[in-house]
Amino acid sequence: MTVKITINGREVEAEAGRDLLSTCLEQGVEVPHFCWHGDLGSVGACRLCAVRVFDGPQDTVGRIEMSCMTPVRDGQRVEVADPDAARFRAHVIEWLMLNHPHDCAVCEEGGACHLQDMTVATGHRNRRSDAPKRTHRNQDLGPLLTHEMNRCIACYRCVRFYRDYAGGTDLDVFGAHDRVYFGRATDGVLESPFAGNLAEICPTGVFNDKGWSQKYARRWDMAATPAICPHCAAGCNITLYERHGTLRQVQNRYHGALNGSFLCDRGRFGPLFADAARISVPRLGGAAVAPEAALEAARALVPGACGVGSPRASLEANFALRRLVGAGRFFAGVSDAEAALVRRMAAVLVAGPARIASMKDIETADAALVLGEDLTGTAPRAALALRQASRGASRALAAEKGVPGWQDAAVRVAGEGRLSPVTLVTPLPDALDDIARPALRRTPAQVAEFGFAVAAALRGEPVADAEALATATALAEAAAPLVVAGMGLGSGGAVEAAAAVVAELGVRARLALFPAEVNSMGLALLGGEGLEAAALALEAAPGPLFVLEADVFERADPATVARLMAAATSVIVLDCLETRLTAAADLVLPVASFAEAAGTVVNFEGRAQRGFAGLPEGRPAAWRVLSQIGGLFAEDATLEDVLAAMEADCPALAGAVDAAPVGVVPGRVARAPAPFSGRTASDLAGRLPEGTPPHDRDSGLSWTMEGIRGARVPPALSTGPVVPGMHSVSAAYHAQEYIGGPLKGGDPGAALLVAGQGGVTPVAPVPETDGEGLIWLPLHDAFSATETDRASPLLAARAPGPRLLLHPEDAAALGLAAGAAVLVEGAPTAAMLTLDAAMPRGHVGLSVGLAAPRGRAGRLRLEAAP
Ligand code: FES
Repeated sequence: MTVKITINGREVEAEAGRDLLSTCLEQGVEVPHFCWHGDLGSVGACRLCAVRVFDGPQDTVGRIEMSCMTPVRDGQRVEVADPDAARFRAHVIEWLMLNHPHDCAVCEEGGACHLQDMTVATGHRNRRSDAPKRTHRNQDLGPLLTHEMNRCIACYRCVRFYRDYAGGTDLDVFGAHDRVYFGRATDGVLESPFAGNLAEICPTGVFNDKGWSQKYARRWDMAATPAICPHCAAGCNITLYERHGTLRQVQNRYHGALNGSFLCDRGRFGPLFADAARISVPRLGGAAVAPEAALEAARALVPGACGVGSPRASLEANFALRRLVGAGRFFAGVSDAEAALVRRMAAVLVAGPARIASMKDIETADAALVLGEDLTGTAPRAALALRQASRGASRALAAEKGVPGWQDAAVRVAGEGRLSPVTLVTPLPDALDDIARPALRRTPAQVAEFGFAVAAALRGEPVADAEALATATALAEAAAPLVVAGMGLGSGGAVEAAAAVVAELGVRARLALFPAEVNSMGLALLGGEGLEAAALALEAAPGPLFVLEADVFERADPATVARLMAAATSVIVLDCLETRLTAAADLVLPVASFAEAAGTVVNFEGRAQRGFAGLPEGRPAAWRVLSQIGGLFAEDATLEDVLAAMEADCPALAGAVDAAPVGVVPGRVARAPAPFSGRTASDLAGRLPEGTPPHDRDSGLSWTMEGIRGARVPPALSTGPVVPGMHSVSAAYHAQEYIGGPLKGGDPGAALLVAGQGGVTPVAPVPETDGEGLIWLPLHDAFSATETDRASPLLAARAPGPRLLLHPEDAAALGLAAGAAVLVEGAPTAAMLTLDAAMPRGHVGLSVGLAAPRGRAGRLRLEAAP
């Protein structure tokens, strides 16, 4: 219900029951605060948000209240600048600063710190106490985060995010008297794959990004560039921070429909791989050669060549390769089965009737069915979103019981015992089990059967599976039911089952299907069969093989790769990473990583998004190298020219050009960091030792700190809001263009897939027949599943080793004991055997990427290594 209240003498409309603090911020009225956060709500811990509240015109005295804990009521008057309230806030800051070390000069957060901003805002200047400060022992929290507890102001944001929002259990608050400690019970790696968000959510420098700390530059000295996380199909928006030609840090870039305020650790720390494992010099026959000689050699190999594109390369790079070799000789750098499955996903999404789910839709679902997908391993940000759907159910129950929705702890208690809206059907125990009621264990074949049973129940057919019946009832009663599947199980059964369920649910359903990589969907829309077809084509007409940013050893069955390599007369690889394939290639050409060139990718929703070069003088874009080889585009062609040609050739990609403005934005957009001072860079323009900044031909971004900033910047080019007096990431919640969810200018990206076109009939998978060996159950490890994950030193330090899991009885039948070294298909594996009674009989769990290529065939023969 909307009511009228007065804020600082201005009458505004506000939502009754909502907290006063966020209402003031939305009206553009600043209220100092620490513990309130737009995604965590209010807890009333810091007492900084004091304002004077009058009940109405008759109330001439009013009282000091915490605005975050005070619900909006009709006729209320709020005075933020009231002298008593201002004095109260100044006292709060003074007592919070009593024990703060005042170490801004050596703190990473200095200049981008919410505590600094609030201290200035409340007018606290001088320390009056000379009492000794309370000190704490810091913990070693693993390779990703630093811990400096002396800086803590006890706002509780960290535990509220870690435990309430992200479901972590190993970070907590411990206290006795006035000693309150936020950390683990003992030193050790923070287990949550979302722990990195603590570095942003902490309003001071208690938790910080260890990678940044090791390659530190002040925030205002770094160039900030909008980019897309390259680590999974979610397509989260990130900001790359660069200084002196190296990537220093990655931060979340707010996107209302996707990542909102949070990233997973894979997306926060993984992209720094672009600074490591670099191929910088062309190699011919294993020896370094000059770039022109390498291009000349490549030109000679174009006639009769096949090309293998990549789901981790941009649309522009893939399109250029397709143009070089011709559409008939262009193949996707994945198995045939994966290529077909992603095409099928696109067809299912487009068919409808379900709406294609965004991450926000996942968060707001009131009933959800997850079929077979280990989201924490395959698309971690989606797991975090699904957790919020469960929290939403608790909140709804709390509202029914009259518990104010802004009291998170009370909501959690009130929500206890409520049936979660999430049904999770996976082969193995899952990180989301704690929010699932029920969490069902089924084999991959049974996962598909379960989905089809739910669909049958929705049609009113008799169904023997009571859980399927209950799930169908929950979905049928929901206003916004959600179905999630993907290619995590390596087969299409779950996707077909998901299609069958949403076909029965109709237009109110939302459907999320997750392919494996950042541009899997884009590559599928570009077309092309997979690696088995490439091998066949080369066997029929042998010729050179150009491979773009795809380690084929990683993505296809070893037999297929052997055929491919044998049939190719020579292998030319364009990549930024050293891989098994670059070691075997005849010619290696270095090309830009995602952080060195602008490029467009298509995420799980079919949303085309563009990232830009975050390093000023990196390797050339792959499409430029291919153009130099084949004369594909004019010498001075820009990204815009490639996109225009691509849209003309590939109708399925029409609209990709609209992912972000290309070409020059009037005035150019400064690559300015969000906490911008410009002190170093702007004031010294033209006199810096860096010299003349390079010119970016492929975007409207400038390589200086000068240019347009703030609200005039198109959303896809924005790296953060500009809020006077605010320099931390918390400023996002003060910025008018961010408040209320989607960016006011529209969330970045262009939808290439539009649901509701029909034309798909779900196909139930054929039941498994007996075969030799055990059925492979792909295990997805959040930090090591792809070649880019493993190229990131920070993720590599965090990643567990490869896993090989067997049911104890299967292991006994094979004569294998726990810890045994095992041969898989006759070849040794790095994974040691673990016996796990949760494993389905007749299956073997093996880590994707580390221990098994993603395109591996369905059954594996195991034997003890000699
Ligand atoms: Fe209101 Fe902390 S923001 S008490």
